Amino acid sequence: MKTDNALLPGERCRSKWCEVRRSGIHGRGLFAKKRIPQGTPIIEYIGDRIDKEESNRRGWARIAYAKETGDAAVYIFTLNDHHDIDGNVPQNSARLINHSCDPNCESYIEEDRIWIAALRDIEEGEELFYNYGFDLESWREHPCRCGSPRCVGYIAGEEYWPELKKRIARREVRAKTKAAADPKPTNRRRSA
Ligand SMILES: C[S@@+](CC[C@H](N)C(=O)[O-])C[C@H]1O[C@@H](n2cnc3c(N)ncnc32)[C@H](O)[C@@H]1O
Ligand SMILES: [Zn+2]
Repeated sequence: MKTDNALLPGERCRSKWCEVRRSGIHGRGLFAKKRIPQGTPIIEYIGDRIDKEESNRRGWARIAYAKETGDAAVYIFTLNDHHDIDGNVPQNSARLINHSCDPNCESYIEEDRIWIAALRDIEEGEELFYNYGFDLESWREHPCRCGSPRCVGYIAGEEYWPELKKRIARREVRAKTKAAADPKPTNRRRSA
């Protein structure tokens, strides 16, 4: 079967289950090359193993870069209390997996290695997603466009959804109150 493999020079996909293609959600993503049975470990999330100090440093540099360019991509994955994995390396195709509020994959850690596994049977051609599990520290900077009926509008771990929904509702109330108190000037011309 011919596919639109979207690997860049120097990159490779180390999994027999999936390949890199353009995504309708964001940039590039990973897609099932064949049917993947539930529970299959699909691909390892590899990268630089860094301590928390270095992780913070890279995280803040990433935020500064995002503010300049609008590219808010985050590749740092929590490994344990002492170390993280910075997956921003070309050999790590798993870094291209997009987030969904209704994912077909999940991440798990086994013996200090991070894996992405199938949460259910996945059909050939489906895009792979897991929930990034972000907390609410900078939720406004991570709008979600997963398009699923369960989408909560922002990229956040499911345990944060109740609080996230409250914050979104409060923000909507504030916006409506402001709009009511501060109506837009009309464009009507004054007659001479
Ligand atoms: C690790 S990258 C994923 C790969 C990315 N598609 C690419 O081509 O580099 C994570 C970034 O992709 C984007 N992204 C992933 N899932 C998304 C979603 N559901 N809605 C909107 N943007 C998403 C966000 O900018 C996020 O910070
Ligand atoms: Zn979503």
